[in-house]
Amino acid sequence: MKPRIGVLTSGGDCPGLNAVLRGIALAAERLNFEVLGFLDGFEGLLPPGNFTILDRRSTSGIMPRGGTIIGTTNRGHFAGKVGAGNRTVVAPEVIADARRILDEHRVEALIIIGGDGSMTTALQLQEAGINCIGVPKTIDNDLEATAMTFGFDSAVAAVTDALDRLHTTATSHKRVMILEVMGRHAGWIALHGGIAGGAHVILIPEIPFHYEKIIEALRMRETRGSIYSLVVVAEGACPADGQAVMRQAEGAEDRFGGIGWVVAGEIAARTEKETRCTVLGHLQRGGAPTTLDRILGTRFGVKAVRMVAERQFGSMVSYQNYQVRHVPIADAVNRLRLVPPDGEMVQTARDVEISFGD
Ligand code: F6P
Repeated sequence: MKPRIGVLTSGGDCPGLNAVLRGIALAAERLNFEVLGFLDGFEGLLPPGNFTILDRRSTSGIMPRGGTIIGTTNRGHFAGKVGAGNRTVVAPEVIADARRILDEHRVEALIIIGGDGSMTTALQLQEAGINCIGVPKTIDNDLEATAMTFGFDSAVAAVTDALDRLHTTATSHKRVMILEVMGRHAGWIALHGGIAGGAHVILIPEIPFHYEKIIEALRMRETRGSIYSLVVVAEGACPADGQAVMRQAEGAEDRFGGIGWVVAGEIAARTEKETRCTVLGHLQRGGAPTTLDRILGTRFGVKAVRMVAERQFGSMVSYQNYQVRHVPIADAVNRLRLVPPDGEMVQTARDVEISFGD
């Protein structure tokens, strides 16, 4: 009988998850493991155990597909995190149930593909004696222990495409077009997408903004002959004298959303400019992964299986200096990787006349 590996996808989905699952299934066959894909995140570990076999056949053709073929959830019995820095303890009886199911099905190691919250849960399972390997995933690109996560590039591509489309209609109507994008506490998606899509103002959580400065930037464009503008607003951005805009908290997670409309309203009220707001929302999380995310996802999946073979339990796959390596899961949780306000990316943006409203 082949030794068995369990795998699950947890938290918000993102393009590239299926590339990871395919990488895991194929590498596992080469290294002589059998793979059980637990369904709907950690919930699949609850009795009686809900899983499907992942092999060459069941993962064939899934690389270009968005989402995850084994399902996911960012709530439920194992939700491991509330906001940045807060650790939620998973109930001991829930962990004991999961352990029993893994034992019953002879699963020797569990690969957990998830973000910050899922890694916090992974750490608790590891501490309870379950052999865990982490694979980092988030479109927000905000995990401290890895320079890049798959899903981010696809999200940025969606932002760039949206800005290209908004650009043409903005010029026709001479309007200010606001685009609200995801990212939670981090401005990476807004910053990268904004630069690639030729935005004129980018508002990110790491740089509190002033409305007067935004208006100043729009007026400056006018004096240079440009009477339309593109403004990218990260969902977590907030004015220097105000607060982030949250939607009603559902379950355990804080949910951002709505700042784009507030910024649009303020610009309209303070200028004569016609202003419109688009909230890109989950379009950033859906659809086919980019080439880069397919490759990164495949590399992460293969690395995770190798880590199981080498018994590097309690570790998470990490991308550093163009190499796929691993780090302790403990190093990956409780600290978000935010945009350095004085870093090279922000400076580059400023040098191509992008205002941060500061
Ligand atoms: O963390 C990924 C993310 O897409 C964030 O950018 C966003 O704030 C959040 O998830 C949305 O979560 P949900 O899918 O639960 O609405």
